[in-house]
Amino acid sequence: MADGRTDSCSFSCPDDIQTTHLSLKLCVDFDTHIVHGVVRLYLRAARDTPSLVLDTKDLQIKTVTACDGPASFSLRPAHPALGSALEITLSPALNRDETVEVEIVYETSPSSLALQWLTPEQTAGKKFPYLFSQCQAIHCRCMVPCQDTPSVKSTYDAQVSVPSGMVALMSAIRDGRDPDPCDAQRTVFKFKQPVVIPSCLLALAVGALESRKIGPRSYVWSEKDMVDKAAFEFAETEKILQVAECLVGKYVWRSYDLLVLPPSFPYGGMENPCMTFVTPTLIVGDRSLAGVVSHEISHSWTGNLVTNKNWEHFWLNEGHTMYLERLIDGKMLGEPLRQLDAIEGWNTLKGSVKVFGEQNPLTNLIPNLDGIDPDDAFSSVPYEKGFALLFYLEQLLGGPEVFVGFVKSYIDKFAYQSVTSEDWKSHLYEYFKDKNHLLENVDWKGWFYSPGMPPVQPKYDTSLADACLKLVDRWIKAGEEDLHAFGPADLQDMHSKQVIYFLGELLQAQEEQTPPPFSVKHVQMMQQAYNLNDVTNYEIRFRWLCLCLQAKWENAIPLALRMVTEQGRMKYIRPLYRSLYSFEKARAEAIATFRRSSSTMHPITVQMVTKDLHLVASD
Ligand code: BES
Ligand code: ZN
Repeated sequence: MADGRTDSCSFSCPDDIQTTHLSLKLCVDFDTHIVHGVVRLYLRAARDTPSLVLDTKDLQIKTVTACDGPASFSLRPAHPALGSALEITLSPALNRDETVEVEIVYETSPSSLALQWLTPEQTAGKKFPYLFSQCQAIHCRCMVPCQDTPSVKSTYDAQVSVPSGMVALMSAIRDGRDPDPCDAQRTVFKFKQPVVIPSCLLALAVGALESRKIGPRSYVWSEKDMVDKAAFEFAETEKILQVAECLVGKYVWRSYDLLVLPPSFPYGGMENPCMTFVTPTLIVGDRSLAGVVSHEISHSWTGNLVTNKNWEHFWLNEGHTMYLERLIDGKMLGEPLRQLDAIEGWNTLKGSVKVFGEQNPLTNLIPNLDGIDPDDAFSSVPYEKGFALLFYLEQLLGGPEVFVGFVKSYIDKFAYQSVTSEDWKSHLYEYFKDKNHLLENVDWKGWFYSPGMPPVQPKYDTSLADACLKLVDRWIKAGEEDLHAFGPADLQDMHSKQVIYFLGELLQAQEEQTPPPFSVKHVQMMQQAYNLNDVTNYEIRFRWLCLCLQAKWENAIPLALRMVTEQGRMKYIRPLYRSLYSFEKARAEAIATFRRSSSTMHPITVQMVTKDLHLVASD
C-alpha cells in the first residue's frame, strides 16, 4: 500500500480511533425502498484525535450527535467506488484511550449498492416484498455510516422494524420480537452479535420467511416453497460443523443458520455470522453442491474469527477457507476427491489468469488495491493461488495432519483480530521453527508479489482425474466419423465432481488450442451421448453451456439466455454473458436480454455485467 494507510479502500482512520460496538435501529420502508436508520457507534481513541472519519456512500445524513450533543460534520465529495467520507468534529478532542458515543440519523438511497429490493411479483410467494443486503467487500457504507474496513472489529445489536407478517434476519443471534411501539402495523425484530466482527459481515434480510430445524444449532430459512427442499439439501450441516470443529477448534458463534435467498443473490454463499446466505442454485435435490456449505462454515474460523486486515490480503480469508473446505470434503468424501478438487482449483486459477492476463498485477496473490474497487479486482486468484500455496506448504512441511496443526494454531493466535500476510508468514516461521531451512527455499516474492501462475505447482494424486483425462483425450482426438462411439456409459461411474472436471478440461482445451478441437458436431454428439441439457447441477450446466458457446452451437444460445435470466450468481452470469458477447450471432440478443432484465437484477451484478458487455467504458 503506497501511502502507508491501513486500508486504501476506507477513508476511516483506524490507527486513530476504533469502533468497539454498534447499536442499530433500522426501519425498512418497502414503499420507498429506503431504510431509515439510527446508528450509535461506541468508539475508543487509539491516539489523541480531534475528529472521526466514517465511510458513507449514497447515504443522506440527517443529524449527528457526539456525547449526546449536536456535533458538526461535513460530507466530502464522493469517490465513485469509495463514496463520501463523513468527517465529524469531536469536541472536546479525544485523548488516547478515551471513549465516545456518536449517534447518526440517516437514510439509505433507493439505489443503494448494498441492498436489493424485490417486489412481491419477483418473489416465490408473490404476496410480500423482499430485501437483502450484501456488504462484502465495501458496501456496508451504503447501508450504515461506519468504519468500513476489516481492520476494525466490533460487536453489534440491532432492532429492525418491518411490516407485520414479514421476518427480519441478521448476521447475529435472534433476540426476540415486539410489536413496533410507533406503528401498530409493524413488528420490531431484535438481534445481538456478541462476537466482534468487521463491517463487511453486517447483514440483513427481510421477507416472508419460514424456517425448519436441521440440527441442534441450525435452522434453514427461505420462502415457504423452498424450505423443505432446502432442509433436505442442507441436512449434513451439523456433520460439517463437527468435522470443522475437529480440525480447527470450537465453533464460537453459537448458532449456524442458512438463509436461501432469491435467485438474484450474486454469490454462491456469503459467510454472514450465525446466518450464512446461499444461492438457491444449490438446491438441486441430491446434496451434490454441499461444498459451498463446507466453504461458508469454514469461514467461521478463517475470515470471521481471523480476518484480512484489508482487501489486499483477501487470500488469507479465501485461500485458508478453500483449504479447510477441501479438508472437510476430503474427510467426508475421501482423500481422492480432495485431490481432484485441488487439481480442479489449479485449472480454475489458470482460467482466471487467462481472463485477467498473465502480466496483470491483479493476479498477484497480494495485489496493490490503491484506487481499485475490490469488486473489479475480484477473481479466483485469492482463492486458488492462496489454496495452491497452502497445499504446496502442506506437502513441503509434512502432509495434511501436520499442516492443519499450523492452521489451527494460526486461528488460535489471531482469533478476534485482523491480520496481514506478514503476520501469517511470521507465525508460519515460528510454528515450524525446526523446518525454517525448508521455508527458506520458498519463493515468497514469486508467490506473493508476482503476476500469473505460481512459481511452483504442487503435486497431486491423479487417480480420479485420470479417467476424466482419458475421456477428454478421446473426445479431442475424435474425428466427426468417430463421434458415434460415445454414450451414457462413459459418465456412469463418475462422481459429479469428475464430470465437472472433465468439462472444465475440455473447455480449457477449447479456449487454448488453435484451431479449437470442438466443432458444433462435437457438442451436438455430446448432447446426444450425455444429455447434458437436462442436468440440474448448475456447476455442470454452467461448464456445458460455456463449452457449447465456445463451439458456436446456436442451439445453446436460448439455454444460456435462460440461465442468465433465471439466476444471478456472478460466477455463472458474468462468464456466460462474456461468452455470449464474443459469439457474434448471440451478441445483440445478449445485450437486449441484459437491458430487459437489469431492473430485476442485483445492483452489483448490473454494475459488473455492464462492464463485461462493454456498455460503459470500464475504468
Ligand atoms: N465471501 C465469499 C463471497 C464474496 C467474496 C462476496 C467477495 C463478496 C466479495 C464467499 O465465501 C465465497 O467465496 N463464495 C463462493 C463459494 C465457493 C468458493 C464455494 C461463491 O460465491 O462462489
Ligand atoms: Zn469464501
